[in-house]
Amino acid sequence: MDQSPPLRIAVLGSGRGSNFVALAEAVRSRALPIDIRLVISDVESAPILIHARYRDIQAHFIPPGGFRTKLDEAAEAAYLAALDEAGVEFIVLAGFMRILKGPLLHRFAGRVVNIHPSLLPAFPGLNAWQQALDYGVKVTGCTVHLVDEGVDTGPILAQRAIPVLDGDTAISLHERIQMAERDLYPEVVGALARKEIQVRGRLTRGFSGGR
Ligand code: GAR
Repeated sequence: MDQSPPLRIAVLGSGRGSNFVALAEAVRSRALPIDIRLVISDVESAPILIHARYRDIQAHFIPPGGFRTKLDEAAEAAYLAALDEAGVEFIVLAGFMRILKGPLLHRFAGRVVNIHPSLLPAFPGLNAWQQALDYGVKVTGCTVHLVDEGVDTGPILAQRAIPVLDGDTAISLHERIQMAERDLYPEVVGALARKEIQVRGRLTRGFSGGR
């Protein structure tokens, strides 16, 4: 059995927190070598904070500052201070609706992972399931990727495909994508914690997640 210490992570999210719940449950039930030290949200009323507190995991609302799509300088310093204080080694974004740039991303370069509700590089940005419906694709899905300076552009670690069905609405399609996310994300974060995934530039080995 692997006796290396668990990977100390923080989960950042802005909303419902279903990916966080799936990860927290997988850590417990599958004994993943992960220690969720901290949850941070930029939204004070986000359910993700309630889910974390319910599980006795430290949870902070840290105001994002004056910008709409990113953290301002003071906010970024506050996020970094909280991450440092909790001894965080790796950041898991779970519906965090702000772009990370600047010192935070530099400090955690290669150690921030995100889940996005499309098969990247198709449909980056907001409401990816709606973009997929509007475009008329027959297959979409979700992607787990490392975060770089771009918007949903970092190296892809794993993807899961979901068919778009006749009669799908934005709600029904998003729900099926999220079901796949809740399955895929804990598997990939577990593989990262066990150091099973190798990353060379854009190319990654060790986990595909495809079905
Ligand atoms: C997830 O569907 C995730 O893919 C998406 O936000 C949702 C969060 O749900 N993220 C993005 O769109 C990022 N570009 P959750 O709060 O229930 O985990």
